[in-house]
Amino acid sequence: MLHHDIIIIGGGLAGLRAAVGLCERYDVGLLSKVHPLRSHSIAAQGGINAALGNNPEGRDDSWEKHAFDTIKGSDYLADQDAVEFMCRDAPSIIYEMEHWGCPFSRFPDGSIAQRPFGGAGFPRTCYSADLTGHVLLNTLYERAVSLGVKVYDEWYLLALASNGERCQGIIAFDFRKGEVVPVQAPATLFATGGYGRVFRHTTNALINYGSGIGIAYKAGVPIKDMECVQFHPTGLIGTYILITEAARGEGGWLTNNRGERFMQRYAPKVAELAPRDIVARSMQTEIDEGRGLEHPLGKYINLDLRHLGEKEIQKKLPGVKSLCKDFVGIDPVFEPIPVMPCEHYSMGGIDTNQHGETVLPGFYAAGECGCVSVHGANRLGGNSLLDTLVFGKAAALAMHEYLQGKSFTGDTALLTSLGKTWERKLENLAKGEERPAHLITKMGHTMSENVGIFREKHKLQQALDDLAVLKERYRRVGVSSPNRHLNYALMKAVEIEYMLDIASAIALGALRREESRGAHYRRDFPLRNDKDWLKHTLVTLGKDGTPGVSYRNVTITNHPPRERIY
Ligand code: FUM
Repeated sequence: MLHHDIIIIGGGLAGLRAAVGLCERYDVGLLSKVHPLRSHSIAAQGGINAALGNNPEGRDDSWEKHAFDTIKGSDYLADQDAVEFMCRDAPSIIYEMEHWGCPFSRFPDGSIAQRPFGGAGFPRTCYSADLTGHVLLNTLYERAVSLGVKVYDEWYLLALASNGERCQGIIAFDFRKGEVVPVQAPATLFATGGYGRVFRHTTNALINYGSGIGIAYKAGVPIKDMECVQFHPTGLIGTYILITEAARGEGGWLTNNRGERFMQRYAPKVAELAPRDIVARSMQTEIDEGRGLEHPLGKYINLDLRHLGEKEIQKKLPGVKSLCKDFVGIDPVFEPIPVMPCEHYSMGGIDTNQHGETVLPGFYAAGECGCVSVHGANRLGGNSLLDTLVFGKAAALAMHEYLQGKSFTGDTALLTSLGKTWERKLENLAKGEERPAHLITKMGHTMSENVGIFREKHKLQQALDDLAVLKERYRRVGVSSPNRHLNYALMKAVEIEYMLDIASAIALGALRREESRGAHYRRDFPLRNDKDWLKHTLVTLGKDGTPGVSYRNVTITNHPPRERIY
């Protein structure tokens, strides 16, 4: 058994930011299923929002305007006190990263460069070309290692250990040795990221199974607003790799098979820089109404950067250029990029307050796996990197408050017994006949087909029925090799149980929410309904093993809901 004061699961930005805030006072362990520099935060490209007012067009910006844009972007489902907290903290978070050595792009006067992004009234997205997640992650990783955080890379999370009163730590799996290891810790933080891989078409990395969310749910912690799933407008056709919103922020156009810039019809004031929910729906409508383009890999829309010129593309969007060359053999300097909307981000997640606290004392969550909620029903581009750093830091402060001056006696008997249960479970998983890959493929299919951009009752019910069949099949899941060591199929077999719970919570929340709000669009209820639905969905595992759904009012401070026009 391992012991730490604090165990953090997830080596992306939220986990590392929390670790950096704690490791000078506490013994911090950080567990990650991949090397931290391969965490999905690295894939964030376009930037991080903060009202610095550096762009000449953005001199009048303020954190209050950032907060308003975020609340409007969320279609009024975000908790406004939490949004204010995040936007007020944003400038100091950026300067902190700058002082820790993050190489942001610069304006000629030396200030941090800021570009326009969707749904933002001012150009407030700070960036480093189109590699912003990459530079932030490297900066924080170096800092965490130099400050002495103990990193366990290539370790999996199997379960949360709770005695019903407080969290006791986790059950982990050392993937290289193939050993189940209980980890006792008075404070546990999940920073495990999103669940994109429950969908077939996603920009998310192959590691994004979202099991942290499913593990918290299994331990009795409510999960919130799971029906709110973001579809990014521009996934590269075929692989669905993200083509950053910065491409449109820098002036890129979306065109249909008539060469028409159709976004001017859907969002006359801002066109391509409307929020993602609106752009993704508009693109899908163009495709569904026959104005998309055809490719052996599917129907698509063109993202045209040619008018920006080679110099600008090379300077501001070098990553886009190489992705296009490597994955579709296209040079965006000379040809438009074939893109389609696909799953990108989980607005929902583990129910937390703005300090990362959950209903279970000693258990915290931050970053994409958590739901504070600051993104409501639609997140603005550039707010997710901000969320990871603001709430990673806030969770660190809250854990410090929780631990300070107290001594905790760990329930080692509970951890030992849970460890043994997992030993037996892994043994049994080596015996079943259902292959995890088949279940994951079928789940992705039904989710992309039935719980996508446009939803309606019978399709959502179909998804729930399909998922029930998959849960039944999961009882017979197994892998072909009993080896524990570096057995990816075995870990898939573990994680798919959590994925099925997550997928079911998404479909159930979407079926119950009989309105359209942000990224949740119901063809059978096409209008937003503030009278009945200005509330968060909470899904909690019942004692009988079925999900219970309840609701909580949204916190409104300064911005009563208004019609959302762009
Ligand atoms: O398009 C992007 O660069 C993604 C940014 C984000 O999700 O915030």
